[in-house]
Amino acid sequence: MAGVALGNVSKQYAHHRGSVEILRNVSITVEDGEFVSLVGRSGCGKTTLLRIVGGFVRPDAGSVLVDATPVRGPGSDRGVLFQQPMLFPWLTVLENTLFGPRAEGSYAADTRERAVELLRVVGLAGFEYHYPKQLSGGMMHRAAFARAMMVNPKIMLMDEPFGALDALTRAGMQQFLLELWERRRFTVILVTHDVEEAVLLSDRVAVMASAPGELVETIEIPLPRPRTYDVSESTEFVDLKRRVRQAVERARGGGSVVGADHARASG
Ligand SMILES: Nc1ncnc2c1ncn2[C@@H]1O[C@H](COP(=O)(O)OP(=O)(O)O)[C@@H](O)[C@H]1O
Ligand SMILES: [Mg+2]
Repeated sequence: MAGVALGNVSKQYAHHRGSVEILRNVSITVEDGEFVSLVGRSGCGKTTLLRIVGGFVRPDAGSVLVDATPVRGPGSDRGVLFQQPMLFPWLTVLENTLFGPRAEGSYAADTRERAVELLRVVGLAGFEYHYPKQLSGGMMHRAAFARAMMVNPKIMLMDEPFGALDALTRAGMQQFLLELWERRRFTVILVTHDVEEAVLLSDRVAVMASAPGELVETIEIPLPRPRTYDVSESTEFVDLKRRVRQAVERARGGGSVVGADHARASG
């Protein structure tokens, strides 16, 4: 079992005029096998929060538990897909995909075959022996995705993984992620600014306000599983999308300095 539990996580960054509060008292529990999306405007602290769960950034306060154990750094229990695809430039696409199993010492007879199959699924058949610099941005994202999936992490932390892809490729990747998640039920925290993507994929959508980043609302997505794209035409889907969008709108000015001043002035 591998859930994630954040308790009153706060984070500040040093700034030339002092320190800036990025995250304030963020608490959320993501159950084992649950798919949770994190939405909110640009700069609200989504990436920082994901990096804290990944163990790349330490919070100033609060608790971060993965599988009921405090996070002390990165670990192979958590697969990470960064906003920028981080491929090793000196390795081919296939070698990049095989990196995890090799590093972990879990390389088996069928590992190479699985990598080739994963690369086919993400649309990179024929590019196994290309180097990252020979790929388009979207292809690098897909290679990074295949690499992250190769080690079967219990938790996947994904930071706007499909944001840079064209609409058709993005739809294909979302469908692929849905199918993979149905089969393996790993825990997912997905950062996205795409409300439709969040509703399509998630069990719950957590909405963040900015300056400082706070979790302000969590919306359940009780759409039936397994899901396919067809669900996006249902009235239930459209209603949920509207609810999430409205929550993001409400969250916008909510935590800002200007909003707080207004609140004080009028209160
Ligand atoms: N290493 C850092 N040092 C200083 N400020 C940072 C650092 N990382 C992020 N920030 C600031 O923290 C805020 C939140 O950033 P981020 O977590 O990337 O937000 P999001 O992913 O929601 O766009 C931004 O104002 C950003 O400039
Ligand atoms: Mg970000």
